[in-house]
Amino acid sequence: MKKSLISSIQSQLVIYFAIATFVPAAIATLVGMKLIYDQVITRAEMKTLSDLNTAREIYRNKINQIENITRLTAARSLIIDALIRRDRAFLQKELSKVLLRENLDVLTLVDERGVVVSRGRNAAAFDDSLSDDPFVQHVRKARRPVMGTDIVSGEFLVKESTELAAQAFMEITPTPKSKQRIDKTEHAGMMLRAAIPLFDEQSEFCGVLLGGVLLNRNFEIVDKINQIVHEGEVYKGRGTGTATIFQDDLRISTNVKNEDGSRAISTLVSEEVYDAVLSRGTRWLGDAFVVNASYIAAYEPIRGIDGRIIGMLYVGILKQPFNDIMWNTFAVFGGVAFGGIVLTVIVAVFQARRISRPLKVLEGVARQIAEGDYGHEVTLQAPDEIEHLAKSINQMAKKLEIEKQELEDWGATLEKRVQERSDELQKIHSQLFRSEKLASLGKLAAGVAHEINNPLTGILTNSSLLLEDMVADDSRRDDVDIIVKETIRCREIVKRLLDFARQTKPQKKLTNVNTLVENIVLLVRNQASFRNVEIYKHLDPNLPDIFADTDQIQQVFINIILNAAEAMTSGGTLTITSTHSTRDQSIVVTFADSGPGIPEERRERIFDPFYTTKEHGTGLGLSISYGIVEQHGGTISVESCVGKGSMFTVQLPAGSTEAGGE
Ligand SMILES: Nc1ncnc2c1ncn2[C@@H]1O[C@H](COP(=O)(O)OP(=O)(O)OP(=O)(O)O)[C@@H](O)[C@H]1O
Ligand SMILES: [Mg+2]
Repeated sequence: MKKSLISSIQSQLVIYFAIATFVPAAIATLVGMKLIYDQVITRAEMKTLSDLNTAREIYRNKINQIENITRLTAARSLIIDALIRRDRAFLQKELSKVLLRENLDVLTLVDERGVVVSRGRNAAAFDDSLSDDPFVQHVRKARRPVMGTDIVSGEFLVKESTELAAQAFMEITPTPKSKQRIDKTEHAGMMLRAAIPLFDEQSEFCGVLLGGVLLNRNFEIVDKINQIVHEGEVYKGRGTGTATIFQDDLRISTNVKNEDGSRAISTLVSEEVYDAVLSRGTRWLGDAFVVNASYIAAYEPIRGIDGRIIGMLYVGILKQPFNDIMWNTFAVFGGVAFGGIVLTVIVAVFQARRISRPLKVLEGVARQIAEGDYGHEVTLQAPDEIEHLAKSINQMAKKLEIEKQELEDWGATLEKRVQERSDELQKIHSQLFRSEKLASLGKLAAGVAHEINNPLTGILTNSSLLLEDMVADDSRRDDVDIIVKETIRCREIVKRLLDFARQTKPQKKLTNVNTLVENIVLLVRNQASFRNVEIYKHLDPNLPDIFADTDQIQQVFINIILNAAEAMTSGGTLTITSTHSTRDQSIVVTFADSGPGIPEERRERIFDPFYTTKEHGTGLGLSISYGIVEQHGGTISVESCVGKGSMFTVQLPAGSTEAGGE
């Protein structure tokens, strides 16, 4: 319980804090990276497109340059004159000079019919017809210059020179993603060409000068593109910018390098790019894996002078730097997020301790309270809520302590009350028991007394007569005298029995108990048994009259007083007190003697009929008194201390009506 409470608060706080930090941090990192990466890539793609435009311009410039050279050469009158004159030697010399100087691959002059007059490169080859050549056809037809890119056949190149043909020849290296090609070799070449018409003095069309530069294995343009666009930048040993010229789908000029450092020519473009650019004639922009690295690549078609797609121009930016930017960003973001999580966990652990430590203290106090130990006051430094909790626990403990005390007190009182009540009940019970016993004994005694009374009267009458009849010196006279005396005694007993049994309804009238006591004292004082007894009276002068049977009450008092005297044969004091209790509307008369007292075990029985400790006692005195007082609605009780004396208390209801009497 203890462990789980604390550890769960701590671990839960830590876990929730960590989740609360990790989730946003992870989302922020991923979203942030995605945004940054997208931005960077978009920029890179835009740059690639602008690079492609630049590349196209460089490509066009080259064509223009060829056109310029060709045009300037064609415009020279010496050339025109030599053509007209068919001065091959001059032409060849001049054309060859220009070709070498201007770095052209082809500079060939044909006449107005398309027949070769002179080749700047190959002096031996002439008189063949180039009338099928589209550039020648175009100029002959339009009489206007034409320039652009063209695919020239192997034969065309051989005619110009075997080196040129060899430069163009390629054994195709298949690549996994490229379209299948039937040919395994390529003899044709791709050429930047210009064709300029020549006119004589009469402005008659007299021939065409054809200038050209073969692109195959010619790296001037791609290197220039790389130089201008990427300034030759190198990233991790690899050029960041690449440019390639495709003849149809074949790489013929590129600065993409193979692993061995050689230029990656003679390979084929991927089928995807082929379909988009060569088949559909659209630009293609995207990621491309070129030879051995990923590039953000842009391709556009190169068209011939008739508008047909004959090749492609490609530029690409190495993707690695952008990927590295992304991974660096990720590392930074991730590092910050991780740092944040670590910080959060530390804060959470600290915070959890701050909460769980006082909770632990409170738990301990709560356990002590549960074990009944209320004496501990909690004082702690903790967050407000926990301090309030501690205060509440302190208050609770105090209240519990007070209530426990009250409960204990109440328990003690209850015990006392229960004792009092059970004493009272016991008393009532024994009174009831006694009353019942008295009632049944009364009936028995009445019957016996009645039966005995008549024979006794007979015995007494006859024995008295017999005694009268006897002469004075008759020897039997003493015996008869005893019969008479004992019979009188028996009759006395019977009389008392009848008194006891009589239980007649009291003839009540207003009676002054003080007066009654005074009379009784006067009556008994001179009797022999009171010779050594001092009688004291403490009578309440304001004692109210009671409604009672005077004779019966007098009999009760006499019984008690006689008993006292009989108990004090060798002298003593008898103190009679009367008091008035307004609280329960009664009068109380007590008779305290200085006799030997009544031992505990006897005290119980003295109100029982026939219980006596005296040789000639009947044991009826107190039981008769008990019956009378009970019939008056009062009580009679005794307190006694062995060796000091006894005190009988008679309590009778006060009042001038019978209300409290029955
Ligand atoms: N004041 C007293 N001091 C000591 N013992 C007493 C006192 N009053 C009564 N007793 C005891 O109670 C007994 C019962 O008294 P009770 O008056 O009923 O009968 P008794 O006095 O013995 O006989 P009887 O009244 O017929 O002469 C007595 O025998 C006596 O032992
Ligand atoms: Mg008596």
